[in-house]
Amino acid sequence: MGRCAGCGAYDSMVEAPPEPDASTGAVRQVTPAAVLRLGDVPSTEEKRIASGIGEIDRVLGGGVVPGSLTLLGGEPGIGKSTLLLSLCHNIASAGHRCLYVAAEESAAQVRMRADRIGEGVIPGDLMICETSDLPAALAAAADSALVIIDSIQTVRVPAIRSISGSVLQIRESVFRIQEAAKRGEATGPAFILVGHITKGGEIAGPKVLEHMVDTVLSFEGDRRMGLRFLRASKNRFGSTDEIGVFDMTARGLEEITDPGALFRSCGVPAAGVAVASLVEGSRAFLVEIQALTQEVNLAMPRRVATGVDPRRLLSLLAVLEKRVGLRLGASDVFISAVGGFVAREPASDLAVAMAVASSVRQKVLPPDTAFVGEVALTGEIRAPTAMERRVLEAGRLGFRQVVLPESARARKFPEGSVDIYYSKSIVDCVKSYMP
Ligand code: TYD
Ligand code: MG
Repeated sequence: MGRCAGCGAYDSMVEAPPEPDASTGAVRQVTPAAVLRLGDVPSTEEKRIASGIGEIDRVLGGGVVPGSLTLLGGEPGIGKSTLLLSLCHNIASAGHRCLYVAAEESAAQVRMRADRIGEGVIPGDLMICETSDLPAALAAAADSALVIIDSIQTVRVPAIRSISGSVLQIRESVFRIQEAAKRGEATGPAFILVGHITKGGEIAGPKVLEHMVDTVLSFEGDRRMGLRFLRASKNRFGSTDEIGVFDMTARGLEEITDPGALFRSCGVPAAGVAVASLVEGSRAFLVEIQALTQEVNLAMPRRVATGVDPRRLLSLLAVLEKRVGLRLGASDVFISAVGGFVAREPASDLAVAMAVASSVRQKVLPPDTAFVGEVALTGEIRAPTAMERRVLEAGRLGFRQVVLPESARARKFPEGSVDIYYSKSIVDCVKSYMP
């Protein structure tokens, strides 16, 4: 059924075959489950297979854990298959057998990509299986250390009469993979499943999919540019604070080991530039905000905002004019967030305001400083949420200073390489950087 007759929503119907009736069976004898002292459970050292690709290993928490399930989501064409093939290439080169289950592409297409990545060298332990029949693929996967399923929406279990990609198929497929990964006592291969994402940015399929796996990764970036980010939103074997940064080149993905440099779009520090530490969903980004102000003799000077909310910009300009005393009434103001980023958060206010002030005063701000805070109409700087994450990310990306609202002074931030400065109002902040 395409449309729900009850609520009118499209594509919301889920197939649910009847459960076998439990009431007819005889009363079952129940043996109590074994209960142990937690301290008596033998603790096992996790063995990990490091890929040697630092950016991936770090996000995973040190490498692939045998017997684990990882889900990798991302938009079509972002480079999921390329990333996983590079991972297989490295792990197979180290002598661990990898099986790439290609349900979307032909083996020849994968071969072509492998040629590009490995510059003609393909390790002997890298195996491929071109099928969408999941049980058949799993039966062939037993001796592998790592199995890639590309993708979970295109494989199917023939016994289930439902099309591939349906909720029922995905649930059954992940269940079978889970069994194969946790075979009895011994650990099976590690599995990485490619998951398509929907328009809204969620991994297509039931939400339960994310509960069934150990690790959920997402691969993202602006498709027109080379930059790609690998992030974990769930990780049973490591933290979710780490990000991996890559550049998509003609020879596959290259690691960017110093991503801090990415956010300095100009080599030389310039007036009108300030960096914001912004949180989107579960992630923090350091985004450079550029402002250009130009005195013109127009009755209605222009305000052009790219990647910044134009209405917020107008109110910030009013605050700068009224509280700080900057004269903007006869100036064009252009503002843009670098890299196609859309700064939706009010936490970007301080950076936007500082960028404008820096352009008006023609004073360069220190290049390794990030600004965090919402600017109220009174000029007061207010604290946004997830402050720790913003500071942590700034530190990780090589920033030296972060400017936070005065009201955040009471909080404890993890000791790190970042110096934290507090500022009460936009007036104070402009004064201390542009006396
Ligand atoms: P792909 O891994 O197929 O994306 P996904 O599996 O997420 O759909 O990669 C898609 C794009 O990457 C493709 O448009 C071409 C580009 N690409 C490169 O720029 N360099 C390369 O070496 C490779 C293999 C792909
Ligand atoms: Mg693909």
